[in-house]
This record gives sequence, C-alpha cells and structure tokens, in this order.
Amino acid sequence: MVRYSKLPFRHLVSLYDVHITHTPMILAREFSRSSIARSADFSSSHHERGLFLLRPKGGKQPTLVRGALVAQFAATEPRHLADAAELISPWVDGIDLNCGCPQPWAYTEHIGSWLLRKPEVVYDLVRATKDRLGWNFSVSIKIRVDEPKQTERLIQTAIRAGVDYVTVHGRTRHQASTAPVNLPTIRFAVDAAKGEVPIVANGDAWSMEDVLRIRTETVAQGVMSARGLLANPALFAGYRSTPAEAITRFVEIATSYGGLPFALFHRHIACMLEERLGRAEKTYFNSLTSHAGVLDYLEGRGLSLPK
Ligand SMILES: Cc1cc2nc3c(=O)[nH]c(=O)nc-3n(C[C@H](O)[C@H](O)[C@H](O)COP(=O)(O)O)c2cc1C
Repeated sequence: MVRYSKLPFRHLVSLYDVHITHTPMILAREFSRSSIARSADFSSSHHERGLFLLRPKGGKQPTLVRGALVAQFAATEPRHLADAAELISPWVDGIDLNCGCPQPWAYTEHIGSWLLRKPEVVYDLVRATKDRLGWNFSVSIKIRVDEPKQTERLIQTAIRAGVDYVTVHGRTRHQASTAPVNLPTIRFAVDAAKGEVPIVANGDAWSMEDVLRIRTETVAQGVMSARGLLANPALFAGYRSTPAEAITRFVEIATSYGGLPFALFHRHIACMLEERLGRAEKTYFNSLTSHAGVLDYLEGRGLSLPK
C-alpha cells in the first residue's frame, strides 16, 4: 500500500500471521536509475519476516516456514522492471508487477491498470524479469477484474510468460473501493488460471470470517487484505479488532527503526483506533500534531509504551 506498507507496518503484521507482505508500489524506472530513489523507497530488516506453522492438508505434520517479502513495482518498460528487480532481489523473496493502479496519472504513464488490456506488454515485463533473475525467483502480478475475456487472456498470457502467482482485486478499474467486491469475478479468474498458478483473492477482507468466506466462495489459494489490515493488523491472527498490544508493538517497532514521519505514524494509529473512538475523541486525536502528543494520548488510555 502506497505510503503505508513500509518496514515497520510489515514487521508488525508479520507478528500476526501475515505470511506474505508487499512493499508499496515503487516506480521501477526511478528505482533502477537513482540511488536516492532506492533509499527513499525501500528498507528492510532481517526481523520483518515472521515464522509460521504451515499445516498441510491430509493431517500431515505441520512445518515451520518463514514469511515472504515481495517488492511491488510499477513499470511499462521490461528493462526497467528487470533492472529494478535485480537491484532489490538480494533483500526480497519476489517482485510483483502492479497492473491495477487506477489513478489517471498512472494510466497516462502506461503503468498500473493501463496494463490490464495489454497482455503482450505484461508478457514482456514478466518474461524479461524471469530471464534476468532465473526461474526460481518469484514474479507475480496484481490485477483488477475486467470483462471475462480480457481477464482470461491476461491471466493465461502471464502464465505463459512464467508468472508465479496472480493477485486479483475483485473490482474493475472504474469501481471505487466503496463498491462491494465482486467475488464471482475472482472465482472466474481462479478458473481462468486452470490450476497452473495460485490465485490470491483481494477485496473487502475485514475479518477472519471474511477471509474464510472469500476463500470458500472464490476457491482462491490465498487472501490479501489492505484496508482491513490497516484497521486491524492482527486480523489474520483471528482478532476481531486491533488488540492494545499491537498498538504498543507498533510504537516499539517504529521506534526501533528510527521512527516514522509524524503524519504516517499518526495515520497508522488513527486507523488502528478507529473502531474504539467516539466522534469527540476522534476529533481530539486528529488534532494532535506531535509524536509526544500521540504517545501521551496512548498512555492516557492505559497503553504501556517504550520509554
Ligand atoms: C492507502 C492504500 C494504498 C494502496 N496502495 C497500493 C499499492 O501500492 N499497490 C497495489 O497493488 N494496491 C494498492 N492499494 C490497493 C489495495 O492493495 C487493494 O487492492 C484494495 O484496497 C482492495 O483491497 P481491500 O478491500 O482489502 O482494501 C492501495 C490501497 C490503499 C487503501
């Protein structure tokens, strides 16, 4: 998530059963050309991936697996994507190509959702990256749903190019995120993949019940949450709302990485507190203008915070 899924937040959610985290969308051209862009856009740590017990079907012994970190890029030029992927590859488990960003500036730049109807360009982008980094390095794409024929063609072309998995956001590029997610269109995408690659279903996963329902209705192999996780980073661990300890941990983690810019720090906490605050308290919280003010506020609500 642009702005939000930076290192401290990724680290936090990895403590609550999120198996795969994605960086915010990074512009491949800038990332590949400029070391300033690289240090502004990406940082990681050995601690940001969690460890999980994976329970295979059929009652086999659970195994301990490490979580995965995926860098998401926006690109239209295969060389830029392959260059950016090569530069970031030592620190991530895979890269993802954004084919869903609906913003007009992205469309004009021929990135994001512009790619939805350009399967041949997606083919070249995926194939160039696979050729450069080898077939063991994961290259995925994240798409929005479209007319069935377009979705099917895009998925099948990406599979021919060597894509490892596809995340499908069940809204078209014209639909606002307030429109309910369309699960049958994700189910269609699962069928279009013909079992050749896993599909991750995305849209309106706000609770573990939603996650299980989405998985049942779409038969997708994974479920991605964006806004649900912002509101409750412990969602995938089964918490109904953000546990107080997650807020404490977020403050600790953000501090341990040298702190977050105030606006982002404040926004993250506001999202996590959203459900707990009445209107007056929200207004008060939104009026805070410093890290110290936020910490005082949290302490006043009984959260134990790092000194
Ligand atoms: C603040 C914000 C930033 C986002 N940034 C990205 C991004 O960088 N890359 C991407 O593929 N999708 C991005 N999205 C879209 C989400 O990944 C997701 O597809 C969408 O919000 C629907 O999922 P949800 O209903 O779980 O929120 C962003 C969404 C939000 C709310």
